[in-house]
Amino acid sequence: MHWPFCASKCPYCDFNSHVRVGGIDEARFLAAFLKELEHWVTLAPGRTVTSIFFGGGTPSLMSTHTVGSVLDAIGRHWAVEPGAEITLEANPSSVEAGRFRGYRAAGVNRVSLGVQSLDDAQLRALGRLHTSQEARAAINVARGTFERFSFDLIYARPGQSVDAWRAELGQALDLAGKHLSLYQLTIEQGTPFAALHARGKLVVPDGDAASALYELTQEMTERAGLPAYEISNHASPGEESRHNLTYWRYGEYAGIGPGAHGRVIVDGVRRATSTERSPETWAALVEAEDHGIIEDVALSRAEEADEALLMGVRLTEGIDLSRLAARTGLSPGRRTIDELAELQLIERLGADRLRATASGRMVLNEVVLRLAQSFEPARAAGNY
Ligand SMILES: C[S@@+](CC[C@H](N)C(=O)[O-])C[C@H]1O[C@@H](n2cnc3c(N)ncnc32)[C@H](O)[C@@H]1O
Ligand code: SF4
Repeated sequence: MHWPFCASKCPYCDFNSHVRVGGIDEARFLAAFLKELEHWVTLAPGRTVTSIFFGGGTPSLMSTHTVGSVLDAIGRHWAVEPGAEITLEANPSSVEAGRFRGYRAAGVNRVSLGVQSLDDAQLRALGRLHTSQEARAAINVARGTFERFSFDLIYARPGQSVDAWRAELGQALDLAGKHLSLYQLTIEQGTPFAALHARGKLVVPDGDAASALYELTQEMTERAGLPAYEISNHASPGEESRHNLTYWRYGEYAGIGPGAHGRVIVDGVRRATSTERSPETWAALVEAEDHGIIEDVALSRAEEADEALLMGVRLTEGIDLSRLAARTGLSPGRRTIDELAELQLIERLGADRLRATASGRMVLNEVVLRLAQSFEPARAAGNY
């Protein structure tokens, strides 16, 4: 579920997030969410919900009533697995932390906090509205309120040295629970950071400097018992985000709200859906047509294989090639696998699994491209 509003727009961010100084008609958006949800029940009847994720934007701007109403509706329409992971993304301001108990009472059992940095000057440079003190306080409230919590940091920021990141990550690991997301800053087209970057006014670590930061991240998180299970996500064993694993294992998911993406198998064919991005246009579409889906594409087997590969090689557990073959009839060519393995960019895990190595993860786009270009009719299981 995508909540597309934020209190202010961060200069690095290209998520579908909008600021509305005049306020938000939350009742209208709740009604639209409930209506689009009902549409999804007709697309994917009889499924069991294994996880729910309120992402954004800033879902912690939603009232606890809105969150509770959406969860109640999901429970009325679908079976929800006992103990299903229900996550809400939150910005770590004191106002938002004040709503955590209400979210918990509404059914949320996990929060993911956008801390970004533990340094006040850095937070200002990232255009954040909260201080590091507020972030620490919000982490403490999260720890005391939910069974599970995570927080996000952005590293490889302009001018960030290895020593500075070592100190900051050390503090973060002291504060962390059992899950941490550590993203390298990416310069996204159309953002204020991209304009500064193009003019040479914002320089981010790249090449060797970025690799050194990445390697330090892997070393420190492993030592702290939070190894990477995906490129940017770290957890103690069993504490991975089940919701995100569904994306990366290429499961089915409903995407509800403005600019949300979904993948659903209807009559044996996987469909890729996306909704209108503009919040008000989306709401008007839902009011008129019961849903805001503006793209609904039946994926070919080859497109499915490309997507599954793109997602699966991000994972430390790798991609299950026999499952991919069973679904799409395709597998990467053995010669390409051998070549990439020789270059130590990928490795085989047992008979049927493939994953990117640490050096492969640094050039993941190229690795995925080579593998995707080599797709051929599938071989028998265990023959990869
Ligand atoms: C939808 S946002 C998070 C939720 C919440 N609005 C917040 O900012 O705290 C998801 C996460 O993506 C990360 N992110 C967004 N833009 C990024 C960028 N350009 N480079 C790296 N990480 C980014 C941030 O760590 C952010 O917490
Ligand atoms: S990083 Fe979070 S708070 Fe900032 S604009 Fe993006 S979604 Fe909104």
